[in-house]
This record gives sequence, C-alpha cells and structure tokens, in this order.
Amino acid sequence: MKIGVPREIKTHEYRVGLTPGAVREYVAAGHSVVVETNAGAGIGVTDDNYRKAGATILGSAREVFASSEMVVKVKEPQPPEWAQLRENQILFTYLHLAPDRPQANGLLKSGCTAIAYETVTDANGGLPLLAPMSEVAGRLAIEAAGSALKRYAGGRGLLIGGVPGVQPARIVVIGGGVVGTHAARMAVGLGAEVSILDRSIPRLRELDELFEGRVRTRYSTLEAIEEEVFAADVVIGAVLIPGASAPKLVSRGMLRSMRKGSVMIDVAIDQGGCFETSRPTTHAEPTYEVDGVIHYCVANMPGAVPVTSSQALNNATLPFGLALANKGFAAVLENPHLRAGLNVYRGRLTSRAVAESLGLPYSPIDQAAA
Ligand SMILES: NC(=O)c1ccc[n+]([C@@H]2O[C@H](COP(=O)([O-])OP(=O)(O)OC[C@H]3O[C@@H](n4cnc5c(N)ncnc54)[C@H](O)[C@@H]3O)[C@@H](O)[C@H]2O)c1
Repeated sequence: MKIGVPREIKTHEYRVGLTPGAVREYVAAGHSVVVETNAGAGIGVTDDNYRKAGATILGSAREVFASSEMVVKVKEPQPPEWAQLRENQILFTYLHLAPDRPQANGLLKSGCTAIAYETVTDANGGLPLLAPMSEVAGRLAIEAAGSALKRYAGGRGLLIGGVPGVQPARIVVIGGGVVGTHAARMAVGLGAEVSILDRSIPRLRELDELFEGRVRTRYSTLEAIEEEVFAADVVIGAVLIPGASAPKLVSRGMLRSMRKGSVMIDVAIDQGGCFETSRPTTHAEPTYEVDGVIHYCVANMPGAVPVTSSQALNNATLPFGLALANKGFAAVLENPHLRAGLNVYRGRLTSRAVAESLGLPYSPIDQAAA
C-alpha cells in the first residue's frame, strides 16, 4: 500500500504521524511511504532522515494526499485537509469527532474511511492509542509541579524530594488511572510523600501492590479529598469518567484552606477540568493564581515534548497501521479493536457514540459496508 505522511498544520502541533523508525517498518513490510517535506522538523528529523528510512519526499501536502491510499497523521484534519481526502482512502489519526460537527461534515463529504486513534480498543477494554499520551502527561505533571513550586514562579519554594532531615513535598493524585499512576511514579521517584485517591477499589488494590507501600491509597470521597487537599503541597487532577465531563472534585472553598503557593495541576482540563477554579491554559502561559494557589491547566501537555510523544504514539499506532497497510479495509472488518476505531465510512457515521453526540444518523459498519 502507498502510505502518506503530511506535515501537521494545526497551530503548535510539532508531532508527526510516522517517525523514520516507523517508516522503516512499513517499507520492510513491502509498502511505500511518501512524506511531505519538513514533516519531521518539529521533532528535529530531516527529509534526509526520512529518505534513509526508505521514504520519498514530496513538496506539498496536496501531492501526499493525492498519491496515498492511507494517510497517517496526528491531529484531526483541518479544513484544507478535508478537501483533499477522497473515497477509498483511509485516514488514520486522532479525530475527536464527537463535539466537532464541521469536521464530521467534511469527512462525510470526502467519502473517506476514517479511523480515530482515540476509539481504537484493546483486549483489556483499554484505549491503547490514548494511553501513551496519558503516560506522557502524567509524568510531565510532576515536572510542571516542580517548576511551579519554585519561589520565583509564585510557589511555596519547596523542593519536591526535600533533602535528608527536611520533609519532602506532599503530593495528592486524584484519579489512579494511566495519568495518575505515571504522575505517582515520578513523584515517588523524586522522594515525595504521595497519596492516590480513586473511586475504583480494584484499581486501589492494584496500585497498593504496584507501589509496595510507597504510596497511600484512599477511596475518593468528599471527606477524603478535603483532608488530603488541605494538607497538600501539590494536587494532581487525573480523573476520567468516559464520555462525560470531568466531575468538579475540588471546590473554590477548599482552596482557601490550602497553603499559599501550593500547586494544582489539572491534567483532566481537556475534559473540562476537575477543579472548580480550572480554566484551560497554554504552554506559552501555563499557570495562573487563584486565592494564592498556583494552577497549571495545559490542555495539550504532550505537545511540550514532541520527540518523546511522537515516538510513544508511533510505538502504539504501528501494529494497527501495519495491519491496515497489509490488509486494507479488510483489517477493520477482521479486527474488533480497529473496528471500534472506525468513525466514518463512505459518507456514513459508523460510531454510535459519535453519531449520537452529533445528532446524526448511525450506520453499523455491516450496513454501511453492505
Ligand atoms: N491535559 C492533557 O494534555 C492530557 C493528556 C492526556 C490525558 N489527559 C486527560 O487526563 C484524564 C485522565 O486520563 P487517564 O488516561 O488517566 O484516564 P483513566 O481512565 O486511565 O483513569 C481515570 C481514573 O479516574 C478514576 N476516577 C473516576 N472518578 C473518580 C473520582 N470521583 N475520584 C477519583 N478517581 C476517579 C477512575 O476510576 C480511573 O481510575 C482524562 O481526562 C484525559 O483526557 C489530559
């Protein structure tokens, strides 16, 4: 199959759909790959690196779209890209289509087959193409907390790990899923005192075993959140209720009892945030202060580290992308996990959740493909 990799055009998106390492895998499997010139610039990869991996460099996105049977990207296609997609072409990328009617219309009109990274599933009921970005965000959350705790940044002036004879920072993680676990791992590694709160008792059991007593686990009730937040130097918001906005677990009232210069990192901001006082921020201006408490609420945290994020994303997408390249659309019909990723097929919406949220008709894939 001929695979195309255009340069990402969404503002401040530096990741790339295929790294040179992934290109080598496609080429080794007998496929050809075309890459738009400078597609890898955001992660420090040159056209020559892609050529050495076996790709052909093309001068424009238009040529890449026109000559490929499958387009592999990172972000949802932008309006100029919808217009270049066509029938019988596979698009494999993040779509986040549910709240995005204009994009849905664009993809439906194009007639393309669009598979969304964020709805591809795995055998454990997880979302394997979302998980790597949650891993990155969870680990970054502790780096962001360390920066915000510095006195010159408005923080308490606290070193996360303390030093011998001086107590470390107290870090509370609300939500012990992928983000929360990776945040806790970093915090423990730096020597912090860490609590994790979750609503799932099986998950709390797993965390208890995983950290072998190095973190305190607590069932997430209003009382437990209050007690933990009042004593915290850093609170990480990492909850997710699939398909719903994040619940507001830390109220403005609770903030007033926190120490001045404490730090709140709301990773769940992309789902509306789990602190009442959260509002989305950007990497250019990541923090703001409410009642003396520093807030960090960057909605695209992995964008700060595109080299790590692109590699992590490519590792996760590669087996699915190769299956699509090897078998074409038959891979979707054969593999229930890729099938879960299918959002649009020849002008029809094949994801029930997306169709319902857009208020548009849903076509099960068997009907759409008939
Ligand atoms: N800001 C970013 O750049 C960025 C990047 C990646 C992920 N995220 C977001 O981070 C959030 C967490 O993602 P994840 O992959 O870790 O999800 P996940 O499903 O792995 O984990 C979420 C956890 O929250 C727990 N939970 C639900 N309600 C709770 C409550 N009331 N109290 C305590 N815990 C509760 C669940 O039991 C689960 O263990 C999501 O909103 C995700 O979209 C943001």
